[in-house]
Amino acid sequence: MDTSSIPYQQLLFVCTNSRADGERVSCAGKGRCGQQVLERLKAYVSEHHLEETVRVAKSGCHEKCEQGPNIAVMPQNIFLSGVTLDDVSSIIKTYLTPYVIARSPRRSNLMRMPRPAFGEPRDDT
Ligand code: FES
Repeated sequence: MDTSSIPYQQLLFVCTNSRADGERVSCAGKGRCGQQVLERLKAYVSEHHLEETVRVAKSGCHEKCEQGPNIAVMPQNIFLSGVTLDDVSSIIKTYLTPYVIARSPRRSNLMRMPRPAFGEPRDDT
């Protein structure tokens, strides 16, 4: 087994698990928008060429199915739950747009994005 550092500063794992009607509710099942949320977030990353900084990936079940659709956000170590398509712009603004701004030539010398380490204790005071 090899280890390496994760090259991304922001990771969003969007649950796209889909179960059949009659089974336990799922984030991308009937009436749920997990797949569309994933596609919109990935489109933003692609349109803004953030592939080397941000990773938006589909994931399997986070075992929070009833609260879904769910997105696991790292390194903040939080879940976004009950996500709707109307939330996508807010998610982009909070978790993706800062990397576009940080990369712009005008701002690159003025703004440095913090890069908290995974597992680093949070200061909630
Ligand atoms: S199906 Fe998404 S958390 Fe279980």
